[in-house]
Amino acid sequence: MNVHWLNGYRPGYGLPRDFYTNADIFAEEQERIFRNNWFFAGHSIELPKSGDYMTLNVGGAPVVVVRDRDGKVHAHHNVCRHRGSIICTKEKGKATRLVCPYHSWSYAHDGQLVGAPMMGESFDKAEHGLKGVHAEEFDGLIFVNLSDTPSPFDELRDHLSPILKSQGMNRAKIALIRDYELDLNWKLVVENNRECYHCEANHHGYVSVQYDTENDNPDLKGEITERLADCAIRWEKAGLDTARVNTSSDYTAEWFRANRTPVRKGMVTESPDGQLVCDVLMAGFSDPDMGTARANTNINFWCHANSDYAHTVRITPVSPTKTIVRGYWLVDENAVEGRDYDPEKVAAFHDEVMSEDWEICRRQWIGVTSPGFQPGPYSPLKEQNVDRYVRWYARQMGA
Ligand code: FES
Ligand SMILES: [Fe+2]
Repeated sequence: MNVHWLNGYRPGYGLPRDFYTNADIFAEEQERIFRNNWFFAGHSIELPKSGDYMTLNVGGAPVVVVRDRDGKVHAHHNVCRHRGSIICTKEKGKATRLVCPYHSWSYAHDGQLVGAPMMGESFDKAEHGLKGVHAEEFDGLIFVNLSDTPSPFDELRDHLSPILKSQGMNRAKIALIRDYELDLNWKLVVENNRECYHCEANHHGYVSVQYDTENDNPDLKGEITERLADCAIRWEKAGLDTARVNTSSDYTAEWFRANRTPVRKGMVTESPDGQLVCDVLMAGFSDPDMGTARANTNINFWCHANSDYAHTVRITPVSPTKTIVRGYWLVDENAVEGRDYDPEKVAAFHDEVMSEDWEICRRQWIGVTSPGFQPGPYSPLKEQNVDRYVRWYARQMGA
């Protein structure tokens, strides 16, 4: 890594232009960040049965995630140990063996090479299993890590699980998946996600349902205090963890966060009018007013889970100037499409928020890639999470 790039970065300020455009920096990020951190791969319910697999790009590397006969999830480099072809070519599929399409070497779900025709007597199959990738699954989420020495996953699971385990994402179904292909650098998406300084001017629908922008509003102080106290009592009775019930979006840990926040008084979910968009509640909830369980992890995941649906996001950088953001919307497994929900209505709220965010990012992209761009300071009151993320990023990049 060329040191002067990081020297241009001033803590408390945004990153210099090169960080958004330079191909060498992007390659360095793929290596240091995306192949060395826990990457959100997808949902457990995408792999319901033995042999179900999905493929994805992690830090530029093709990876396959597959469930074995005992229900355990494995991840491997999706690269044949013979002459390097990718093995699983579809985004999702089912296979009793992972068979390479080139010369038909075949691998078990745990990555062991089980078939390699005509390789001669001295060939040792045991030496040619798929290269493994660390995989972890909890509460309906699957994370993978390409590092040989990944950071301890327990930290993340122990922090998120008390908030997310009651949401029933492991007994949900996918109402909708939508991919947003953005012609801009992935960091603009993450930075924008880390603050609500922009919400008032850009997300009218969002702020009409949330308290995010009202924490400093003296007129709502009483209402928020009352709402938090009321929710905490009912949620505790419903068996939810209430240690982190608040309206703050501050990071509660170094590279991840989770909390549960009420929606505005008189509303029960994140929808355009704050009312349910799915008639069957998730996780067997009987009270629809369960607030929103929120979680974020560095580097590519966030979640807003309500009583009637959950929305999650996976970010995949493709190049310095291209990013794919996948939005998932989940509902309870017993909800019936057409009867209990309309996928478009389930997705409407966050689809609108994201469309507004992509427009923000698109405008910012034109500016940060221009010769007139000079990084400005972050608000210490409204952008502390962006600053925190950028400092984390700089450390990952060797600062
Ligand atoms: S490259 Fe896979 S079997 Fe030859
Ligand atoms: Fe936004």
